[in-house]
Amino acid sequence: MKHIAVILAAGSGRRMGTETPKQFLMLSGKPVLAHSLDAFEQNAHICQILVVTHPDYMEHTKCIVRDGGWQKVCHVIAGGAERTDSSLAAIRAVSEQASAEGDEAYTLLLHDAARPFVSQDIISRVCTALETASAVNVCIPSSDTILQTDAEGLRMTSVPPRNMLRRVQTPQGFRLEVIAEAYRRAMADTDFQATDDCSIVLRYMPEVDICLVEGEEANLKLTNRDDLSLLDPNTSLKGMTPLEAYRARMLRPLQLKMLEMLKVIADILDRNGVRWWLQGGTLLGAVRHGGFIPWDDDMDIDVLKEDVPRMVEALRRELPPQYELPDPPRRTPIYKVRLSDSFFVEYADDFSLPYSKGVYIDIFPQGPAPTVSRGFARIVARGYCKANSILGRQHYYSLRSFAEFFWFGARRAIFGCLWKLACLLRPSDRYLAQDLQNNGLGLIHERNRIFPLSKVRFEDTEFPAPADPDFYLREDFGDYMQLPPEAQRHGHAVFYVPSLNALH
Ligand code: CTP
Ligand code: MG
Repeated sequence: MKHIAVILAAGSGRRMGTETPKQFLMLSGKPVLAHSLDAFEQNAHICQILVVTHPDYMEHTKCIVRDGGWQKVCHVIAGGAERTDSSLAAIRAVSEQASAEGDEAYTLLLHDAARPFVSQDIISRVCTALETASAVNVCIPSSDTILQTDAEGLRMTSVPPRNMLRRVQTPQGFRLEVIAEAYRRAMADTDFQATDDCSIVLRYMPEVDICLVEGEEANLKLTNRDDLSLLDPNTSLKGMTPLEAYRARMLRPLQLKMLEMLKVIADILDRNGVRWWLQGGTLLGAVRHGGFIPWDDDMDIDVLKEDVPRMVEALRRELPPQYELPDPPRRTPIYKVRLSDSFFVEYADDFSLPYSKGVYIDIFPQGPAPTVSRGFARIVARGYCKANSILGRQHYYSLRSFAEFFWFGARRAIFGCLWKLACLLRPSDRYLAQDLQNNGLGLIHERNRIFPLSKVRFEDTEFPAPADPDFYLREDFGDYMQLPPEAQRHGHAVFYVPSLNALH
C-alpha cells in the first residue's frame, strides 16, 4: 500500500488576518508549512508528499521545498478557491499518477498545512487504520459542551450528548478510489457545499465505514489572531520589523480589551438614559464585518450633547476604579474613557498630559448644527479645523511661524465667524454634528436618520446604532462596503501593553 501525504496549503488565512497566509509565517525558525513536511518526511509509512499551494505562492512554496531538502516531496500543485477544490486538485493529480503507474493500492492522507504540530503517532495511527479501513478520521473528545442553535444562531435548540461528540483534526486518510468516487459524486451534486474530506465521504458514500483514530489536543489548527502568539516572536511576520510584528500580534487582545470597556460604558450609559450610538469606523465595522474592522483598533461612539452632563456624572460615579474619564482639552472637546493601568502609545500621544495614557474609547458629543448645505458645512469645518490644528502645533519661533500665526489665525477666525453666523441665522433642529473643533470632516447628520436609535451587532453584543446605519455610513464613507486598498489598512496603536504591571 502506497501512502501519499497531501499538504493543503492553498488557503489565504483570512481569519488570521496577516498579510502573508498563515502557512508561510515563521514557527520555531521555519515556515509553518515546513513543520508538516518534516513530520510526513520522517514517517516511515509515507512514501510520497504532494503540496497544494496558493497560485500566488507557487514560487515561494517551491523555494521552501527546495531549501528544506525533503526527499519525499515530488510535486507542488496549485489549489483552488475552497479547501475542497484544493483536495480535488490533489486527488486528480494522484489519480493520474496511479493510472500511469498502475501498481499497488494508493491511499491519500489529506493534511492541513495550518496544523504544524501533527505527531508521528497520529500519522502512524492513520496509516495503520488504512490497512483495514477505506476512510479514517482523526478526532479528539470535546471538553466543552457543544450545543446546537437555530438557523440564526440566536437560540439554543438542543445539546447532543457530549460522549458522542468529537472535534475533527487532520490528516484524514482514504483509499484513493474511495475519496475519488466521493468527490465525483459530490461534484455532480448541484447542492454541494464545501466541507472537510471525511464529511464528503460520509455524505456521498454512506456505504463506507469511516474509522476513527485518536488525535491530540496539540494538533491544533492555526486559525485566529490569538494563535499568532504561538509563532516566533520577532520573525513570525515576514517582512515586518519587530515592532510591527508585536503590533500585529497585540491587535486582537487590544480589540478585545476595547470591547470589554465598551460593554462597561454601554451598561452605565444605558442605565442612566444617555442617548449614544456607534459611529465612524466602529459602526462601519459592525455593518461590514460584524465587529472590528479586522486591521483596526479604534472605538468611537457618539453621545447626544444634551446628555453629556448626565453622562459625565454617571461615568465618574460608576466606572470601575481602573477606568478614568479625564476632562477633555478645550481645543478638542472629545471625551475619552481610559483604562489607566494599560499602556498604549499612539502617533499623536503627548505623554505630558494625563489625557494621553492607556487604551481608550472616544466619545464625541453630537449637538444641534445649523441647517446648511453639506458642502458649506464641509468647507467651513475643514477650514477651521486645519487652521486650528496648525495653530495648536506652533511651538518654535521663526519668521515663517510668525507669519503662519497670523495667516491661520485669521482663517480660523473667519471660518469660526461663518459657522457662528450660520448657527444664528439658520434653524438648528434638523441636523446634528460634532463641535466645530472636532469636526475635521465637516460631517452633519439629519436627526431623523439617527433617531429612533436602532441596534447593531458588534462581535458578541448588540449596541445602539443610528436609525438608518446604511444612510449614515454612505454619508460618511460613500461606498462603504468596498474595502480600502491594502496600503491603507492600518490601526492606531503603535504600542500596547495590556497591563502596566507587565512592565515591572
Ligand atoms: N486550504 C487550502 N485551499 C483552500 C482553503 C484552505 O488548501 N482554498 C488549506 C489551508 O491552507 C489550511 C487548511 O486548508 O492549511 C485549513 O483551512 P483553514 O484553516 O480554513 O485555512 P484558510 O482557508 O487559509 O483560513 P481562513 O478560513 O481563515 O481564510
Ligand atoms: Mg478556510
